[in-house]
Amino acid sequence: MKAILLKDFGGPEVMTYGDADQPQPVADQVLIKVHATSVNKPDVMQRMGQYPAPKGESEILGLEVAGVVEQIGANVTKWKKGDQVFALVAGGGYAEYCTAYQNHIMPIADTLSFNQAACICETYITAYLNVFLLGQLSSNQSVLLHGGGGGVNTAAIQLCKNLTPDVTTFVTCSTGKVDRVKALGVDHVIDYQQQSFADEIKALTGGKGVDVILDHIGGPYHQANMQSLALGGTLMQIGVSQGVKAEINLALMMVKRQRIIGSVLRSRPIVEKAQIIEQFEQTVLPLFANQTIQPLISNVFPLSEAVKAHQMMESSQHFGKIVLEV
Ligand SMILES: NC(=O)c1ccc[n+]([C@@H]2O[C@H](COP(=O)([O-])OP(=O)(O)OC[C@H]3O[C@@H](n4cnc5c(N)ncnc54)[C@H](OP(=O)(O)O)[C@@H]3O)[C@@H](O)[C@H]2O)c1
Repeated sequence: MKAILLKDFGGPEVMTYGDADQPQPVADQVLIKVHATSVNKPDVMQRMGQYPAPKGESEILGLEVAGVVEQIGANVTKWKKGDQVFALVAGGGYAEYCTAYQNHIMPIADTLSFNQAACICETYITAYLNVFLLGQLSSNQSVLLHGGGGGVNTAAIQLCKNLTPDVTTFVTCSTGKVDRVKALGVDHVIDYQQQSFADEIKALTGGKGVDVILDHIGGPYHQANMQSLALGGTLMQIGVSQGVKAEINLALMMVKRQRIIGSVLRSRPIVEKAQIIEQFEQTVLPLFANQTIQPLISNVFPLSEAVKAHQMMESSQHFGKIVLEV
């Protein structure tokens, strides 16, 4: 089969479009003929050698696919050949064929294209897991999302607006994305290039702070995040793109009864991912099926042009998701 291969770890140019062995589904897996996959920041990190595939998983990049069931493993009861599906995978998405566990797969509603379905798993499940299941955002609370133009955070904005419409949303982004983030209906957009988000949150909340923060920046944002967190608030750390170390004032954290939770989706056990997906399917999937929300697709490239897709993500020109058509 055709797939994106890595010559080495490094810049986008280490990716080549070549031939790889077609994967074989184990008993609980399905083989999917991939029609579309999408680019996620963790793919860029894996390409750079900073985010290895979990043990036993495909070394091929790609954390989600949409396509058609081609073959089923011996224990598969939920799916049959020809079903149109999308799936969360721990690797292997940048290819013509990909295997997925039967409980990590969801059906594609008639209202969704393969390209749209390929943009749901990694970003919306990450947003749902961290903001709602772990962060426990609830009605009348407030949330700060960093990076409103990205895949995870355009998803998080949509979920906050639709699952908890009375939540107050604060979103940071670069100057060039302010208008587009505003257009998504967030309550307060903070231009992180021109403003201090901690000062803005303090002023806008009357010093109270926000109940949940979804952060992927890490070190340089840590202290400002903690200052911006309300009493009893939760900082969800889902990435460390700008630094892994930070100083924590434990006394303040204790007195303010705050929580910091680190979370990664990819390396969770198969059963745990299936439980998260089951909740996601019940709570969020109907919103896609009835078109209340739609994945925001920024750009579409053929799989063979994965280099261009990664260059686009790394220069942060995208707004929403970048699709690779297979
Ligand atoms: N833990 C997990 O399970 C998990 C799963 C998926 C993704 N992630 C992490 O989530 C992060 C986002 O992934 P993604 O696929 O959504 O990537 P993405 O589409 O590239 O989004 C990242 C966004 O952050 C913005 N940004 C960059 N520097 C910023 C700063 N200093 N302050 C605020 N925003 C900033 C970028 O645009 P502008 O700078 O132009 O505003 C961009 O819109 C990555 O770090 C990824 O590793 C974690």
